[in-house]
Amino acid sequence: MSFYLPKGAVRPPRVERGKGIHLYDERGNRYLDATSGAVVSNLGHSNPRVVAAMVEQAHRVTFAYPRFFESEHNVRLAGRLTELAGEGFDRAFFVSGGSEANEAALKLARQYAIACGEPARWKVIARDPSYHGSTMGAMAVTGDSFTESIYRPMFQPMPKIPAPLTYRLEPGVTAEEHVERCAQALEERILEEGPESVLAFILEPIGGLSTGALVSSPSYYRKIREICDRYSVLLIHDEIMSGAGRTGTFLSSQHWEGSRPDIVTLAKGLAAGYTPFGAVLAPNRIVETIGAQGGFVHGHTYFSNPFSCAVAAAVIDEVVDQGLIERAARMGQYLDQRLRNLQQESRLVGDVRGKGLLMAIELVADKETRRQLRPEMNAPARLTNYGLAHGIALYNRRANRGQFGDIQLIAPPLIITESEVDDLVERLRRALVDFERDLKQEGALG
Ligand SMILES: Cc1ncc(COP(=O)(O)O)c(C=O)c1O
Repeated sequence: MSFYLPKGAVRPPRVERGKGIHLYDERGNRYLDATSGAVVSNLGHSNPRVVAAMVEQAHRVTFAYPRFFESEHNVRLAGRLTELAGEGFDRAFFVSGGSEANEAALKLARQYAIACGEPARWKVIARDPSYHGSTMGAMAVTGDSFTESIYRPMFQPMPKIPAPLTYRLEPGVTAEEHVERCAQALEERILEEGPESVLAFILEPIGGLSTGALVSSPSYYRKIREICDRYSVLLIHDEIMSGAGRTGTFLSSQHWEGSRPDIVTLAKGLAAGYTPFGAVLAPNRIVETIGAQGGFVHGHTYFSNPFSCAVAAAVIDEVVDQGLIERAARMGQYLDQRLRNLQQESRLVGDVRGKGLLMAIELVADKETRRQLRPEMNAPARLTNYGLAHGIALYNRRANRGQFGDIQLIAPPLIITESEVDDLVERLRRALVDFERDLKQEGALG
């Protein structure tokens, strides 16, 4: 970790063990895992059924290269996921994380265009702000001017259109008008780039850190689907954070009619932190067209490895058998209500948004004007420290250097109970009270 931290930064507590929704450090301090780490631990920690499946698979076989051997759990997991994802998803490709999943999805789309006799298609339109991962291809479609300013010469940045953020609007523009314009921006950008050159449009249907769990209107999702169809542009949903049940449906697109993507990527909650894992789901139409021309020219050593597939299969079995997708919807409503009460109480909480158990609060200096705290305050990182002092772990990564708002995700494990939600919100409240007190002393709320 000292490799990663800026010089002089305080080292985080050293984790010793986890149980349910809590993590314990080596001194025995307990932390409520309010963000499931980086929105990963959907099942909480030390789930006995998953641990048993890990031990069993470790005794059977941990590695066999998928080009030489199929594995039972690879086949079973693919069947399970495509069934949960519903119509339009017939095939699954497994990788070791979110960035790898997006790389694979982009390459799958490109190879499909070539197989269809359309080699001119290569541009992938994405949104700004957005986050799709940290590898070169994923960064090319990520809307984050800060990371782009560092790595830009090393990759080909892709065209961006505005994400439909509605918390701060231009005077005289309604949220509906703005969202409508953001959807229309996709069509305008396709025409500007030349439709024959546009391969795909990628978005987080329910946002993560970059937009603060942004959810748009059903008409936005319908409209972008229609625009993609009009120009034969593939629609890719990055559900790395929002998928696998977190928002109350297995895929976010299952919330809205007429919004189905062509390709979807999953990771994080898919194996819930029990193994590094990710997946690309695609229809037969794409996979078979590529297969007929020699197969997908892409792969990693650990793709579809039997150990990870067995672990992810056990996670999905547990999520389904415990009814955690429905629970995410129910507990999400309760959390939403509790966070809105907190918003009334706290001077720092400007907005609450999200769906299911993927929620976010936006921190502001002034709720009336929606003015942000000064960037050098690095509000989310500071809130994390106040949180640790109150026994709550709050994951943070400041997207776009806070340019689009200071976001704190609230995304606990899907096993959370009502009383644990109360405990979470109370600890968050105390952290916010301390933060507000110190900000006042520093004259930052002015
Ligand atoms: C929406 C989204 N896409 C992609 C990624 C990248 O996933 P990973 O960090 O597993 O490579 C993340 C990670 O935070 C994410 O939230």
